[in-house]
Amino acid sequence: MKVTIVGAGNVGATCADALAHRRIASEVVLLDIRENFAEGKALDMMQTATLNGFNTCIAGSTNDYAKTANSDVVVITSGIPRKPGMTREELIGINAGIVKNVSESLLKYSPNAVFVIVSNPMDTMTYLALKETKLPKNRIIGMGGILDSSRFRCYLSLALNCPANDVDGMVIGGHGDTTMIPLTRLASYKGVPVSQFLSAEELKKVSADTMVGGATLTGMLGTSAWYAPGAAVATLVDSIVNDQKRLFPCCVYLDGEYGQKDICLGVPVIVGKNGWEKIVDVKLNEEEKTSFAKSAEAVRNMNNVLSSVTN
Ligand code: NAI
Ligand code: 2OP
Repeated sequence: MKVTIVGAGNVGATCADALAHRRIASEVVLLDIRENFAEGKALDMMQTATLNGFNTCIAGSTNDYAKTANSDVVVITSGIPRKPGMTREELIGINAGIVKNVSESLLKYSPNAVFVIVSNPMDTMTYLALKETKLPKNRIIGMGGILDSSRFRCYLSLALNCPANDVDGMVIGGHGDTTMIPLTRLASYKGVPVSQFLSAEELKKVSADTMVGGATLTGMLGTSAWYAPGAAVATLVDSIVNDQKRLFPCCVYLDGEYGQKDICLGVPVIVGKNGWEKIVDVKLNEEEKTSFAKSAEAVRNMNNVLSSVTN
């Protein structure tokens, strides 16, 4: 299976490394606009093949889309990341133009690929990619919820003092500090509701820490995070290329589901070789429904800015 990643920066390169390391793809193409940058990253990674025991072929390219031809999955991470104090939404002016052009180039060479969108503001970039490519909605997936859920599970496990893999939980809604919705009510420690172990106050703190998870790291690192984002993208790609039918919260086009239309937003979906194959209808309570509607309103406001920044 061939996977192309556009943007060989922190997230793109970490994702390529995970795809090879975890033997998810047989061929990975890393493409970047910076002269020789992707080639250098690819060569460095190839020199870990005998150390890490993988046979994935990783190739780099400076903006030559012919090398990406016939990819099964394409991942868009190109664009600028957040600096401390910036919101994901402030990136729209620059990233919208990049995502638009990159999507067009990728589509030309890989018309049958599943598109995974990572660049921020991710919910709006996913909507933009869908509108620009006019691909069937199932083949455009925004990645944010898998990362946010992984952070949620991490914070829950720290509060519970237990292994993160014993904790389950999902974050739906937008991939923004104020738009994501950690579903605390449904989170569990090996199937037992976390509310049995943690007080309302403790759960509130876990939720709050999760929502600013990206901002906290941006403050510490001076740019946005990459290990968990790269690993989260690789996990999504794994479910596509290996047709795993895993259930993840992903940003997908809603056409009435969860009470929303004409918007891309994070909801639980089944992911397989055709992209997202089914939206799972989780029964939200009134408070969660209100949060979801507010999240949709914020993302819709951001989508409305698109026409002024892409022309
Ligand atoms: P980075 O700056 O390390 O890498 C971005 C790369 O994109 C750079 O190497 C740059 O040269 C390249 N690039 C820029 N314009 C390009 C073009 N037209 N064609 C090809 N390559 C181009 O940034 P990082 O940390 O990898 O983040 C990338 C994006 O992903 C940012 O927008 C960031 O906010 C977003 N992000 C999204 C997450 C999510 O969960 N959805 C998580 C983490 C980051
Ligand atoms: C993150 O959540 C900034 O979206 C990026 O780390």
